Amino acid sequence: MDTIKYLLSENQMPDSWYNIQADLPEPMPPVLHPGTGKLITPGDLEPLFPMQLIEQEVSTERFIEIPEQVQSIYRQWRPTPLYRARRLEKALDTPAKIYYKYEGTSPAGSHKPNTAIPQAYYNKIAGTKRLTTETGAGQWGSSLAVAGAFFGLDVEVYMVKVSYHQKPYRRAFMESYGARVIASPSNETESGRKILQEYPNSTGSLGIAISEAVEMAVQDAETKYALGSVLNHVLLHQTVIGIETLAQLEMAGDYPDIIVGCTGGGSNFAGIAFPFIGAKLRGEKQDINFVAVEPAACPTLTKGKYAYDFGDTAHLTPMVKMHTLGSTFIPTGIHAGGLRYHGMAPLLSHIVELGLVEPKAYGQLDCFAAGLSFARAEGILPAPEANHAVKGAIDEALRCKEEGVSKTILFNLCGHGHFDMQAYTDYQAGLLVDLEYSSEEIGMALAGLPVVG
Ligand SMILES: Cc1ncc(COP(=O)(O)O)c(C=O)c1O
Repeated sequence: MDTIKYLLSENQMPDSWYNIQADLPEPMPPVLHPGTGKLITPGDLEPLFPMQLIEQEVSTERFIEIPEQVQSIYRQWRPTPLYRARRLEKALDTPAKIYYKYEGTSPAGSHKPNTAIPQAYYNKIAGTKRLTTETGAGQWGSSLAVAGAFFGLDVEVYMVKVSYHQKPYRRAFMESYGARVIASPSNETESGRKILQEYPNSTGSLGIAISEAVEMAVQDAETKYALGSVLNHVLLHQTVIGIETLAQLEMAGDYPDIIVGCTGGGSNFAGIAFPFIGAKLRGEKQDINFVAVEPAACPTLTKGKYAYDFGDTAHLTPMVKMHTLGSTFIPTGIHAGGLRYHGMAPLLSHIVELGLVEPKAYGQLDCFAAGLSFARAEGILPAPEANHAVKGAIDEALRCKEEGVSKTILFNLCGHGHFDMQAYTDYQAGLLVDLEYSSEEIGMALAGLPVVG
């Protein structure tokens, strides 16, 4: 019998997250204060995050225990299945073996609850009453709304305006769990009003929505801010994905030659890849390639600059060294809303700079085509963001066919697309176009980078 799904039981779920900072050959560049440009202290971050998350941000411990209360909620949907894509392999007529880890079985439909739950937990035990956040596609806002309901926290979500209108059911989903959803830029914050004055028709960006959420959090001692990607602690929480996958591949008697993930802020890619990159850094496994796929319409890793920049448009967040298109860069309203971020996780940027990960960019038309081929072969309709990983994996499988080699390809199917049907309708109606930025346009946004040092 050909096995399709590799399943772990609840008692095989990881009880620790993996922290790649323990295995880095060089430490990451430091984080700088947005006002003074000096090294940031834990105290500077306290208005935004509870101390246990700040400690995780800078920790170099290799494994960090997952609190029992978080494990018990994780068990609601974890461990998630690892699939062997046998029908897709057949459809592509490739000698490659393709595996995918499916994170769409979570309550929100993606990997995002892996960090929403612990973030809500650490806030709850620190006495926080309300969390503010941003959301692009709505997957992250949905996840924090679910986590808020589990822990009795109020949740306010600044949702990028273009997505707010493209995905009305995501808003309804968040509201079902008691969250308040505000289209960003809004009139509720200084940062939002400033943008609206200059650009009354602004469709928003993750950078603007972050500014609004941060501004609201710093004004009230009982309110903290939660970020759905980019930060070290978020990437850390996502490593449950890769740790489970290691065990599942062992059941399958396989090990990947290539790992593919999509990158918006870097968290789901880190989740699947970091435990494997760690094994490579420790010298346990060598020949393995890592491919990070981003949209050509927001080419942070492939066309951005590795430099210090702000995480948001109004420059309220600390400055971090990352691949960036400039904090004023507003990508077009592609449907992969979760990949429309001007920056990248500093930890992943650092790892890309070390030459451990190969970044690639694809246009949305190719990604939707890949997503539909996948859906027709495997039965699962991916989120538009996940289509980028599907496209990356299919390309690798086709390369194997061309070269007549059988490699093992693993990718992260980070979410389902059940709330993204407008995107598929538009694609099938021929309404979507590909967009690439000229070097002048990118140069303009990069001209605003802060001068540091
Ligand atoms: C389904 C999905 N995939 C990917 C992403 C991109 O984020 P990250 O790169 O942090 O995984 C998002 C972000 O909202 C998302 O909703």
